[in-house]
Amino acid sequence: MTVPILPTAELHLHIEGTLEPELAFALAARNGVRLRAADVAELRRAYAFSDLESFLDLYYELTAVLRQPRDFTDLAEAYLTRAAAQGVRHAEVFVDPQAHLSRGVPLEAVFEGLAAAFVGAEERHGISVRLIACFLRDRDPAEAEALLPRLLPYRDLVIGVGLDSAEVGRPPELFEQVFARAADEGLHRVAHAGEEGPPEYVRSALDRLGVERVDHGIRSLEDPSLTARLREEQIALTVCPLSNVALRAVPELGAHPLRRMLDAGLLATVNSDDPAYFGGYLHDNMTAVTRALGLTREERLRLAANSFRASFLPEADKQRHLAALEAVQAG
Ligand code: HPA
Ligand code: ZN
Repeated sequence: MTVPILPTAELHLHIEGTLEPELAFALAARNGVRLRAADVAELRRAYAFSDLESFLDLYYELTAVLRQPRDFTDLAEAYLTRAAAQGVRHAEVFVDPQAHLSRGVPLEAVFEGLAAAFVGAEERHGISVRLIACFLRDRDPAEAEALLPRLLPYRDLVIGVGLDSAEVGRPPELFEQVFARAADEGLHRVAHAGEEGPPEYVRSALDRLGVERVDHGIRSLEDPSLTARLREEQIALTVCPLSNVALRAVPELGAHPLRRMLDAGLLATVNSDDPAYFGGYLHDNMTAVTRALGLTREERLRLAANSFRASFLPEADKQRHLAALEAVQAG
């Protein structure tokens, strides 16, 4: 059975994680960058991971092909084309500025390149896009603090800050100061927590960083009082099923906690994380969990509605998207 595509908001998508092997080689050729893999097939074979860190090693290595503004534009355009075909109507896209600054690529190249694709994406692809700049938690928090003011000139596009990269041993509270400053600036705040790290990291992200949404958060279910809080406060969780299996946070899709999250009344959403690496874009994730967990049509509609509710869209836009979903439901 094919699973129908629903209009959805994508809330957990790293633009660097949309780099398909074919584009990686094309950009490597454009920029005279040598890749370790000899060809696309060999690179694809390297996409077998044992955990988050083993993935991040390759993810950061391949950013070497992104050098000029037009590289970022091409990357973003390729994502928009794929996302549009999978029902995405709004995307809050993560970018890792430090991964580029540390290689000598200026911030302007990253944001000007992305803006060339993302500004006007609604007219060209039917997808509104905003950016969330993530701090790398395995680097010095002082670096994040220095980065924050440099993001402010891009506020038309950058609506918030996030926290990603290797989680274990890097608890959210290390970034309390920079998140407080981001809040003062009126930026939205999210953080990866409870992907590999313990439920305490989810609590810390909520209490110390003031996050409005938790990325992954799957280990929250290990803690009943945290689970009760997430339900009562209806804190959104951006769940990425294919990612969790690829990085072995979950042994197999049939054991994915999404089913239990829905049953517990949590505001869960389905997202694609790093689709080029983990085997699929948003609807591919939805199809895979539908099959593995036996999701009903009502549950898929609920997940799609959750995605708009959990977005940072203005209320009127949320209502417009929810009305479009209701029209699908009625049809
Ligand atoms: N987790 C943490 N950091 C990341 C991820 C992820 O899934 N993808 C890209 N950076
Ligand atoms: Zn992620």
